[in-house]
Amino acid sequence: MIKKIFSGVQPTGNLHLGNYLGAIKNFVELNDDNENNCIFCVVDLHAITVKQDPKKLRDNIRETVATFIACGIDPKKSIIFNQSTVSAHSEAAWLLSCVARMGWLNRMTQFKEKAGKDKEKASIGLYSYPILMAADILLYDTTHVPVGEDQKQHLELCRDIAQKFNNDYNVDDFLKVPEPLIQKEFSRIMSLKDGSKKMSKSELSDLSRINLTDNNEDIINKIKKAKTDPLPLPANTDELVDRPEARNLLGIYSSINNITLDKSVNEFNGKNFSEFKEKLSQVLVEKLNPISLEIKRLTDDKSFLDKILLEGQKKANYIASKKLKKMQEIVGF
Ligand code: TYM
Repeated sequence: MIKKIFSGVQPTGNLHLGNYLGAIKNFVELNDDNENNCIFCVVDLHAITVKQDPKKLRDNIRETVATFIACGIDPKKSIIFNQSTVSAHSEAAWLLSCVARMGWLNRMTQFKEKAGKDKEKASIGLYSYPILMAADILLYDTTHVPVGEDQKQHLELCRDIAQKFNNDYNVDDFLKVPEPLIQKEFSRIMSLKDGSKKMSKSELSDLSRINLTDNNEDIINKIKKAKTDPLPLPANTDELVDRPEARNLLGIYSSINNITLDKSVNEFNGKNFSEFKEKLSQVLVEKLNPISLEIKRLTDDKSFLDKILLEGQKKANYIASKKLKKMQEIVGF
């Protein structure tokens, strides 16, 4: 079976190590193995579900494209575009929002977290955001969606929406029900300041995350200041259960080196954090420095990035508008 891959990243600035290890690193492997069958979308419509500065948003869209390419996605082998330039996404989202149920959306934990205590003041877009995400995926007959663990519930919703559309309109298998591709071990990278919280762009303290644009000094400093616990590093992974910070740092070390957690635990068995942190900073600098330099180089080349987006838009629009047209016919338009 030919795999069709689709994934999206919000252009909200500060793309970080969690985005890289949880998602973008996977995109690169998939892109190499599934030439011409991968679509990577800069989801700017999703970004405005919370307030954005229009000028910064425009820059962040380009910076996200630069990040994709700097991390190793080859625009010749895949489609890279920004969501707002293909209007089928918004139109399909409306059709799907008439199929999706309030009860399903009410269960979405990410909305609850993002809206916080003052739910009444959250935008409608933030609430219905997973429906737009379903439209993104379903317009391209996607078979596999690589994401971090935090998007799992949204993907389950996407599957429910696809099945309900097919059932309601009696069009068996018209919308393809996609499979999530979530890594088993390192799909949730946690904050450097609190091992119980996800590493996130919106966290106020910059020390909580490693941004893909950080320089070497920033990386070394952030790892030095990362929260740990008083014990030496454990002898086996079972001992990590109640040690979220140790688990997270060892997970980062494993993921960036493409090795198992077991192997990292064996390597640092009984050692102290300062020795481990030195090794961790070293490998992060080695892997991330070329990426950050390339992001900077590419963001200066606006016309190159705009050209990638324009080419991507044409290809994406061709596929998405055909699927949308069929959806419209099915609902009776
Ligand atoms: P976004 O922009 O929040 O995150 C982009 C990708 O990074 C992953 N991620 C993480 N993975 C591991 N640890 C972390 N701390 C971490 N933080 C973020 C996310 O899981 C995601 O894969 N709704 C999506 C964007 C989207 C999308 C789509 C994805 C829109 N349409 C269609 C797939 C398919 C989002 O807000 O991701």
